[in-house]
Amino acid sequence: MKQILEDTEKTFDVNTIRKDFPVLSENVYGKPLIYLDNAATSQKPHTVVDELVSFYSTYNANIHRGVHFLSQKASQAYDDVRVKVKEFIHAASEEEIIFTGGTTDSINLIASTWGRKFIHSGDEIIISAMEHHSNIVPWQMLCEEKGAKLKVIPMNDKGELLLEELNNLLSSKTKLVSVVHTSNSLGTINPIERIISKVHEYAAANSIEIPIVVDVAQAVVHEPLNVQKLDCDFLCFSSHKMLGPTGTGVLYGKAKWLNDMPPYRGGGDMIKSVSFEKTIYNDIPFRFEAGTPNIADVIAFGKAIDYLNSIDRIVALNYEMGLAKKASSLLSAIEGVRLIGTAENKTSVVSFIIEGVNAMDAGMYLDTLGIAVRTGHHCTEPVMQRFNIPGTIRASFLFYNTMSEVDALVDGVKNAVKFLKR
Ligand code: ALA
Repeated sequence: MKQILEDTEKTFDVNTIRKDFPVLSENVYGKPLIYLDNAATSQKPHTVVDELVSFYSTYNANIHRGVHFLSQKASQAYDDVRVKVKEFIHAASEEEIIFTGGTTDSINLIASTWGRKFIHSGDEIIISAMEHHSNIVPWQMLCEEKGAKLKVIPMNDKGELLLEELNNLLSSKTKLVSVVHTSNSLGTINPIERIISKVHEYAAANSIEIPIVVDVAQAVVHEPLNVQKLDCDFLCFSSHKMLGPTGTGVLYGKAKWLNDMPPYRGGGDMIKSVSFEKTIYNDIPFRFEAGTPNIADVIAFGKAIDYLNSIDRIVALNYEMGLAKKASSLLSAIEGVRLIGTAENKTSVVSFIIEGVNAMDAGMYLDTLGIAVRTGHHCTEPVMQRFNIPGTIRASFLFYNTMSEVDALVDGVKNAVKFLKR
């Protein structure tokens, strides 16, 4: 990532970009909204919002089921997004792209289908110490059901994974590794290529297969990803964190795994034929998309991808890293403020605590100034346990944020310290 950042000196026209996001000109409590909760969900460009309105007002129909004009049009639009996603993450084929409800649903799909078939008593699954609950609980549920064991790659005080420990965790019992690319609560960007090659090398040397799941929910809006270069087996992400609507997301899986997995949910569209005696399942990707899918949101998700493709993503990344750098350095200079997550390689997430101030009180104080941040454990309770804190205040930046919003946050935190410190 550092490499990409050093390669550009181009400037970023944030004022033009901001005009594309209607919410950003809203006021809250009579003050201009300062939206710094992008890790929870990103705002949407008007092209995404307009597409939802256009779908429902001009071509709303069910897909893959109708010969009529509207159904054909909706089916085409939906299928086009699968191709768009394939190109966006550089998958080998669009059949490797499954539309799900989001990252959580994608991980649950793997745990329920791949896990149901390939995990047995005594097997081991490796995750990391900085996983979101969505990359812990599905595996715990599977382990409980199957009598398997969950193992955890630990991290240091900066919030960096101790990769040498992975060597000790890998064994002939390891059946799957599932790790987060970028931590939502610490901002750490993990050396995912190294983790993947380490696991694949270990598996090859021992003539076993260990598929790797990568949760890129927090990464995909920030940096370009290439699943073939990464050589991950599965990749999971949500539309709503990358400018698209809520309620949809993607599971990428290598075709060789998807073809070998039993279906997730049963119903329409995931079958070739059904009789009371026997059902023949459909081919991938349809085998994993039972029932009427989230048609409108998938189609609008396509507009979010178009938007990301229309900007210079490296310049945008450089710009948002500048925002986070400034916020980190000014916030950490405030007496009583301590950053949580100080990894060398970080995304634009700044998590911090204020000694003697409850994180939620600080969040509510900032809210009165129009500043939206997230407070609490961020669905990563084990991370909070590792740092022995109940929660953090988290400011997460995206390319439509501004340097003056960083200044407002810093002033707000200074005042929060003054007014709330016990
Ligand atoms: N996972 C989202 C967050 O980090 C909801 O806030």
